[in-house]
Amino acid sequence: MRKLLVTGATGFLGWNLSRTAQGQWDVYGIARRNRRQIEGVNLRRTDLTCLSEIKKNLQEIRPDAVIHAAAESKPNFCQLNPEQSRRINVEETVNLASLCADIGIPFVFISSDLVFDGLKPPYKEDDPVCPVSIYGEQKAEAERAVLNRHPRALVCRTALMFGDAAPGAASFIQPMIEEMKNGRDIFLFTDEHRTPVSAADAARGILLGLYKTKGILHIGGLERISRFDFGKLLRDVLGIHSARLSPCTQKSIKMPAPRPSDVSLEITRAMNLGFQPGSLREELEKLFCTHLIS
Ligand SMILES: NC(=O)c1ccc[n+]([C@@H]2O[C@H](COP(=O)([O-])OP(=O)(O)OC[C@H]3O[C@@H](n4cnc5c(N)ncnc54)[C@H](OP(=O)(O)O)[C@@H]3O)[C@@H](O)[C@H]2O)c1
Repeated sequence: MRKLLVTGATGFLGWNLSRTAQGQWDVYGIARRNRRQIEGVNLRRTDLTCLSEIKKNLQEIRPDAVIHAAAESKPNFCQLNPEQSRRINVEETVNLASLCADIGIPFVFISSDLVFDGLKPPYKEDDPVCPVSIYGEQKAEAERAVLNRHPRALVCRTALMFGDAAPGAASFIQPMIEEMKNGRDIFLFTDEHRTPVSAADAARGILLGLYKTKGILHIGGLERISRFDFGKLLRDVLGIHSARLSPCTQKSIKMPAPRPSDVSLEITRAMNLGFQPGSLREELEKLFCTHLIS
């Protein structure tokens, strides 16, 4: 079987990707601090901000393709730590893309819907980027540099994702479920919209993109929904009728990173390749039916 190297393999998306790719690929993973093992994945501890370590891993593993999901993925952290986050989000991302270009293997960079300012949704792949946060700026800068350095690279801009929690790396729904169960007030924006996608669907879409295309590909869900309405849907699927959901607006909660209001992604290009995300209700029901979240 061909070898796939997934960076950030212990992170939320990387873990979902590593599980989905098994069977089609011999999966190798890179993680930094997380010491957990992933069944079926040959996992190595490496800090990707060390170039010689990246080279050593590529020489030893000799992958047939790389999916780069490692990142400082929290916008608030990036806003407060721009230099530290830039190292992995931009500099080492471009180094890794360059090394893959030099050895002639496909490279997929996981970017984000947050490269847009949220004023003219839904966004297509060729719409101009216009980030409002440092995280978004770093993703946009890395996208340009990756495509410049590796002309056959694929940039997957993913929407907000939800799904099974990787050991030590959850999605945004796990803390929300805890709050629902504990009966605490949950404040959710009515004026922030996304096109969320399950990590299982996103992983399938990213692997499809790896096989079939290059350039920029949007991977998101079918429905545009506010954070508040997503919370209501989650509450209904879980049947936690006592959950205390309080509507609020972006303005009412101060956070370090500015937040765009609506970065809904247009996913026609991915769907033309065969990407078929489920509806939000279907995907949430699947998660709970399989008892992976309780
Ligand atoms: N989650 C979402 O809803 C979402 C939406 C849009 C785009 N994205 C993008 O999707 C990608 C994956 O996100 P995620 O939610 O899975 O993030 P995550 O759970 O925070 O995982 C990040 C991963 O990156 C690794 N990492 C960070 N710095 C590293 C370094 N210097 N060297 C080696 N590994 C390093 C972490 O390893 P350790 O844990 O071992 O430190 C972890 O495995 C990111 O590019 C993110 O920006 C995510």
